[in-house]
Amino acid sequence: MTPVIELRNVTKAFGSGTARPNAVLEQINLSIEGHEFASIVGPSGCGKSTLLRIMMGLTTPTDGEVYYRGKPVKDVIEGMAMVFQTFALFPWLTVLQNIEIGLQGRKISDDAKRKRSLKLVEIMGLEGFEEAYPRELSGGMKQRVGLARALVSDPEVLLMDEPFSSLDPLTATHLREEVLDLWLNPEVSPGSVVMVTHNVEEAVYMADRIIVLTHRPGTIIKEVHIDLPRPRNPRSPELYRVVDEITGMIA
Ligand SMILES: Nc1ncnc2c1ncn2[C@@H]1O[C@H](COP(=O)(O)OP(=O)(O)O)[C@@H](O)[C@H]1O
Ligand SMILES: [Mg+2]
Repeated sequence: MTPVIELRNVTKAFGSGTARPNAVLEQINLSIEGHEFASIVGPSGCGKSTLLRIMMGLTTPTDGEVYYRGKPVKDVIEGMAMVFQTFALFPWLTVLQNIEIGLQGRKISDDAKRKRSLKLVEIMGLEGFEEAYPRELSGGMKQRVGLARALVSDPEVLLMDEPFSSLDPLTATHLREEVLDLWLNPEVSPGSVVMVTHNVEEAVYMADRIIVLTHRPGTIIKEVHIDLPRPRNPRSPELYRVVDEITGMIA
């Protein structure tokens, strides 16, 4: 099976033409398969966000190749959608309009866009907030809009960059459960999820596979398969054993 995303010997340096290039990623070899929940963990500044941007075609690597379904990536990939730590909503647009933005450029009628966006309003529990503006929403609600905007386009790959990091712990716990439920919901389920996080517990709780990066410049030190049965108990000793193992690799 051709992987959905494949990175071969990917290197990224900012200011590579200058006297002091800033190496951010080095020799990244990585595949994302058709139906998996992968997580990339590593310390702050090790290039995780840059890696996600490279996967989606938003940033070009300095060296190496990126493939989407076996084809070289030359532009932003339509089949992918991103969820951001800071939500990245447009403050001047309503909730419904922010969700519809996820369908921008798609060749479907305005009616169909509206219908699909309203479906996501329902799935993400945003009913009654369609006409609200982001400033009127709590962090958790804003991220629901962020997720709805990403999922409205029915992406093959959902990329999430620290999606729970700016939420309070209780809200984050709830939203993690919901994302796992969405993952299993055939109406929205993206083929694959790639979640970047610096929270090792979160990664072990949610992912099938964890890709562990070193300090900058980020290189992959290990891939860990998480075979714990689902639904997982976030407090189980088995889970904590894996968390300790991975934390030890990064420290
Ligand atoms: N557009 C850019 N121009 C210059 N440096 C950048 C740019 N984007 C990221 N960097 C640098 O690359 C490094 C890794 O950034 P990032 O990918 O955001 O790391 P992480 O998400 O792991 O915290 C940081 O030192 C950051 O300052
Ligand atoms: Mg980041």
